[in-house]
Parts: sequence; C-alpha cells; structure tokens
Amino acid sequence: MLHGLTEMSSSLADPVLQSQWFVVAKSSDVIIGKPVQANLLGIDVVLWRTETAIHAWRDLCIHRGAKLSLGHVQDDCLVCPYHGWKYADTGSCVFIPAQPDRTPPLRARADAFFARERYGLVWICVGQPAGDIPNFPMADDPSFRCILCGPYRFEAKGPRLIENFVDVGHLPIVHGELLGDPAHAIIADYEIHPGDADGEGPYSGEISILQPDPDGTGRPGEVSYRYKVHAPLTASFIKSQGSSRQCILDTVTPISENVSEAWAILALNYAHDTSDKSLQLFQDKITLQDKLIVESQRPELLPLDLQEELHLRSDRMAIAYRTWLKTTNMKYGIA
Ligand code: FES
Repeated sequence: MLHGLTEMSSSLADPVLQSQWFVVAKSSDVIIGKPVQANLLGIDVVLWRTETAIHAWRDLCIHRGAKLSLGHVQDDCLVCPYHGWKYADTGSCVFIPAQPDRTPPLRARADAFFARERYGLVWICVGQPAGDIPNFPMADDPSFRCILCGPYRFEAKGPRLIENFVDVGHLPIVHGELLGDPAHAIIADYEIHPGDADGEGPYSGEISILQPDPDGTGRPGEVSYRYKVHAPLTASFIKSQGSSRQCILDTVTPISENVSEAWAILALNYAHDTSDKSLQLFQDKITLQDKLIVESQRPELLPLDLQEELHLRSDRMAIAYRTWLKTTNMKYGIA
C-alpha cells in the first residue's frame, strides 16, 4: 500500500498524522453507485460504497492518472472515467475494455486506505492505525440526541484549533452573551490529569463558569465543563448543569498545509423541543466567533516551549495539551 508521501508536504507527511483516524465526510454523503471526492493530508481520495462496505482509495487511476471519483460504479466495481478500467472492491483491476481477453497485470490496482464509519461519519487512516476511532459513548446512549455539525473550514493548523476547543478562559470573552458573561470571567482552579505517553490524552476536572442561558430557559446559571483530549487532533467536553448534559466531540482533519476542517458531534440529553437545525445554527455561530480568533493567531504553529507564550493557572488544560503533544512526537502544526 502506498501512502501518498509524494503528494504530501513535509509537515503533512508526519508519521503520527498518518497513524490517526480523520473524518472526511458524513456517511449519508456517500450513497451506493456514486463516487465522492474527499481530501485530507494533501491527498485526493475517492469514497465509494458497496452493499457491505465503504471504500476510500487514492483518487487516481494507475493507468493514466485520471480521477476515479469522476467514474461510476458498476457490478460492485469502480470504473475509471477515462478508459473504463474496472476496479473490484479489493482494489484490483479486474477488467480492461481495450484488451478484454487479457488478465489485468497485478500492478493494476487502486491504492486503498483504511476506512470505517462511526457516529454517522466516514473516518480514514492513510497509514497503519495507531488505535481505534475516538470513543464517544454518548453516541450509543439512547438518552442522548446526536447532531452532526460542520465541517468548519479554518485557515489554520490543527493544534491551534484543538487548543481553542479546550480553552475555557475564552468562553466569557469571545462567546460573551452566548457561553459566558464578560462581567464574570473568573476561572476558578481546577484539576488536571496530564495524560501519558501511551496515548491517553490529558483531561480536566470540573471547571465552573456562569452562562447566560445554559438550558434554554432564558435564565443564567452555573455550568461545569470537563475536557478531554482523545488524540492529537481530537478532543471532547461534557458540560453539566444538574442532570442536563451537553457533550461535543471535536475532531480536526488537516486538509492541506494551512487549511483544516473541524467536525463536531453534539450530544445532549435535554432541549428535546429544540430542532436539530437551530442547534446546528448555534454551533455555526460559535464556530464563526472562534474562527476569527484562531485564524488571527501567530505564530500559526503551536509553541510547545512553555517559555514562548504566557500562561495562567486558568490555562492549565491548554498547558497539559501542549505538554502531552510533545510525548506524541507529532511534528505537524507545532513548534
Ligand atoms: Fe483510468 Fe485509463 S486513466 S483507465
């Protein structure tokens, strides 16, 4: 299996990135019979589906380099749009129209990546997966409703996005009136579990903040956030108020050197009368506020040397993320 190193710039050729699962599409975007193009890590990918599985291949025919995503599906094979070579779901070319009596050469095969579906999303790993797709148990809990949000396109690198996601201190400032109150911006001390080199990312204890309308009743209230980093570019939080829980799994796919896409799975066990659409629109609004800030940050590379930027006690989750990133040996997006 080739892994597209020739197409990747040095930063995206990071072996740690190649061992991660990244979201490239919603499952519902890939229907039987219609190939779809996707992008990650500077690689063009074709997604296509048979009755039993989803497939993710490099979007390139080995004959003359045409995009397979412009082709069609026939007899459970992906057919190249240029000279009609037919590729079976194993990746092997099984038929060449110009020479129908000849067995296609062994080299005539598509470059297949690992592909799986989970939480209504298509996940790809272009190398050897280092672990499983991040766990988000609320997606399997019938008391929660799950809503997919995004993808949100950022002209920024993944680590800045994830650090923004686990940064509680910006909520009353960037999202004042929505997720905080600038007049109550104090962040009390909280616990941090630092994570380990075996892949367990850092997570926080409860962090309390005041929000103007946490449950949709129009009344302000205290909520608490617990953050967790699952993978170098995936994190989640659980926001609690009494028995109400709102949880988001946020995962970032590097598209090219300076462009990333963030996908969010929102799960909540309250607000049953609020439509999916209005919850998505709220999330869109929050993300737009974050986008303005994150795209402005310089340097674009997240400095792992803690002497490089100033840190407060309220930044402990971000500090833990930076410290843990060092143990992953990822080079992409960090300095
Ligand atoms: Fe695909 Fe020729 S380029 S069959």
